[in-house]
Amino acid sequence: TSPSEAPVAPGVPTGAVPDAVPPALPKLPPDFLWGASTSCYQIEGAVKADGRTDSIWDVFCRQPGKIADGTNGDVACDHYNRYRDDIDLLAQGNFRAYRFSTAWPRILPQGTGAVNTAGLDFYDRLVDRLLEKGIEPFACLYHWDLPQALQQRGGWHNRDIAGWFADYAEVTVGRLGDRVKRWAMLNEPSVHAIFGHAFGNHAPGLTGWPSYVKAQHHQNLAQGTAIAALRARRNDLQLGTVFSLQPVAPATDKPEDAAAARRVDAAWNTINLDPLFKGYYPEVYAADFETVTQGDDLERIKVPVDFLGVNYYGPGYLVNAPGSVLADATWGALPPGMPVTALGWPVDPSGLVRVLARLRDSYGNPSVFVTENGACYDDPPVTEGRVSDPQRVAYLRDHLFACRQAIDQGCALRGYLVWSLLDNFEWAEGFRRRFGVVHVDFTTLVRTPKDSYRFLAEVMKPA
Ligand code: NOJ
Repeated sequence: TSPSEAPVAPGVPTGAVPDAVPPALPKLPPDFLWGASTSCYQIEGAVKADGRTDSIWDVFCRQPGKIADGTNGDVACDHYNRYRDDIDLLAQGNFRAYRFSTAWPRILPQGTGAVNTAGLDFYDRLVDRLLEKGIEPFACLYHWDLPQALQQRGGWHNRDIAGWFADYAEVTVGRLGDRVKRWAMLNEPSVHAIFGHAFGNHAPGLTGWPSYVKAQHHQNLAQGTAIAALRARRNDLQLGTVFSLQPVAPATDKPEDAAAARRVDAAWNTINLDPLFKGYYPEVYAADFETVTQGDDLERIKVPVDFLGVNYYGPGYLVNAPGSVLADATWGALPPGMPVTALGWPVDPSGLVRVLARLRDSYGNPSVFVTENGACYDDPPVTEGRVSDPQRVAYLRDHLFACRQAIDQGCALRGYLVWSLLDNFEWAEGFRRRFGVVHVDFTTLVRTPKDSYRFLAEVMKPA
């Protein structure tokens, strides 16, 4: 399928797949924050270095059959040892910001208590090097790699985790906050709750709706508790969090599919948005969440944020599926002609405009960064030092035009960070699914910039 078939909102160009030089470059504001995103377990490797303990992902990967290609994050991109080269790639590609995540099991090997200075030292070196190269560090405190020691104490099912997370946040910000000014608390809590705690195809592999509800509520609570704790200590930081937002529509015109889409909109999107910005849970799940909500929890969750990170990949089309753990619904057929990526995900840049317009209209138009956007395609092999990925170029270009359109429509969009700098460990898919703008050969660990990297370097080039 050609990305040029992507249905887009009026005004978003859908020209043919660019060859060498893209026909049009999106123009974004001069102070737009351009960057790339990664996460620690997906790229760092060095899982035993300097006192790091197991995370739930290390343990999950050891269970046979959980990861499609049988791999794990033991080595990944070996970024822990090669971060200088990776920062050079950022600098040479005109990236001005870099969103990474800190590994809780490096910093607090038991999850709580004793701080492992050697673990923090790595992020110290990373941050110093980024700043030396003029790249803004943008840190995320939790990208799904809970210390296994805390899973043994109930993990996200234990409401004490709100305090454990706030303590970890204070330790980490205490060490890096003199240089890192932008902090996201969580990455995609609803996705972590759905895949890790309801479907069980992500770590920690738990299943069931009550499991989802607990994991979701305690993530919301941890996020609010940590933001309040950090605010109480200092006023020089930009504090926010990152949600996966997808426009959800019914796959057919049947009323039961429309109802399924409304439930999934709640379970995926508003389960995070409503409590953070409005102080309540979506009506359809209010009763379920009452069973886990105590005292002033909702006030603790509704804290002011300086920004919201939005991860956007594409829209969802849902059908009614009684018995499915995801709100009695599942993903259905796509509208005819809708292009898809190698993972089968629909490509629709207009969905990004709809997500941002919803934040503008229903959530007070918060300052937003697109903290992830990107596409998985089966890239051709490296040939003469080059990887040609025209579909990814087209995907990125069309989504950047969508960013422009959202800004023109009054959305407070402040920046865009591509997922991802490097091909990396794509969770249950292992290494066979590639999202990077830089190719990684997982045998030699050699990095090769793809055409999409050159495309972004051109778009981001300072005027
Ligand atoms: C969102 C997640 O935050 C990231 O870890 C993942 O690799 C990308 N989506 C692609 O699936």
